[in-house]
Amino acid sequence: MILVVGATGGLGGKIAHCALSAGNDVRILVREGSQYEELLELGAQPAFGDLKDPSSLERACQGIDAVVTTANSAKRGGADSIENVDLLGNASLIDAAAAAGVQHFVFTSVLGANPQSPVAFISAKGKTEDHLRASGMPYTILEPNIFMDVWVNAIVDSPLRARQPVTLIGSGHKKHSFIVERDVASFALGALSNQGAKNKTIAIGGPRPLSWRDIVAVYELFLGYPVVLQELPPGSALPGAPQFMSDMLAFMDTYESPINMTQTASDFKVALTPVETFVRESVARWN
Ligand SMILES: NC(=O)c1ccc[n+]([C@@H]2O[C@H](COP(=O)([O-])OP(=O)(O)OC[C@H]3O[C@@H](n4cnc5c(N)ncnc54)[C@H](OP(=O)(O)O)[C@@H]3O)[C@@H](O)[C@H]2O)c1
Repeated sequence: MILVVGATGGLGGKIAHCALSAGNDVRILVREGSQYEELLELGAQPAFGDLKDPSSLERACQGIDAVVTTANSAKRGGADSIENVDLLGNASLIDAAAAAGVQHFVFTSVLGANPQSPVAFISAKGKTEDHLRASGMPYTILEPNIFMDVWVNAIVDSPLRARQPVTLIGSGHKKHSFIVERDVASFALGALSNQGAKNKTIAIGGPRPLSWRDIVAVYELFLGYPVVLQELPPGSALPGAPQFMSDMLAFMDTYESPINMTQTASDFKVALTPVETFVRESVARWN
């Protein structure tokens, strides 16, 4: 049985759906009040608990062969802080899984995770990676690059759908290997049947590096008209967006993060989704 932690999230939901539709026995760690009913209808078994409650994690891990976790505090708040969830909660989950004899633990980290990072979220990811490596439990750590579903949707798709200009912070020329969530889900589940993925830390990205301007050009191609682009200087706030999004967008304009995926995609037999497919599917949902 696979325990999915974070199954009510964007990526975690895709992982749970894929695992269920592939015929796996799936347990999901869920909290009262979260949106998990659809997964129960599809056959998932609920384990009620919280990353902040270690005893609930011990119960959830009983009889589990593999854990896949995507849970994180980024879009939550209050008691779900980086310290409580991404650092202590993940450590408790790893300890509970190791004690229960779990045979494979897949942790969704982030590209550039580093325990020494001055950014608390990136540091918590790096420390969790270290904790997992030291646990003695077989593991796979996935370090994905930026998700199209989250970032392209927020920065380009949503404004265009509302007939608004696209606003960038910085020039938008730096290239990153953006990836779609469903491909990350394929790597997360693929790790469970890929012996070569055991005890590895794997950077994952999309099929080719893209700048924001490349992505806008793909939208122009699909829409058949030029997109109005506004460029704000670093330090500006994106209208209507949370501050971390403005900060992250400015940060993305300071480095490039291409990932050569040829070998990894072949090892995992994942056909990476090109941005053109993402844009076509997104625009088709507009009406
Ligand atoms: N977005 C990107 O570009 C990007 C890039 C690289 C890596 N990543 C990583 O990829 C993952 C994204 O996952 P996602 O899209 O599924 O996240 P998400 O949509 O933000 O969902 C967060 C999940 O974590 C759960 N959670 C939060 N606090 C919890 C707690 N105290 N106890 C139990 N569950 C808790 C939430 O449950 P509730 O519904 O109960 O709150 C929810 O299921 C994250 O690990 C992220 O760091 C993201």
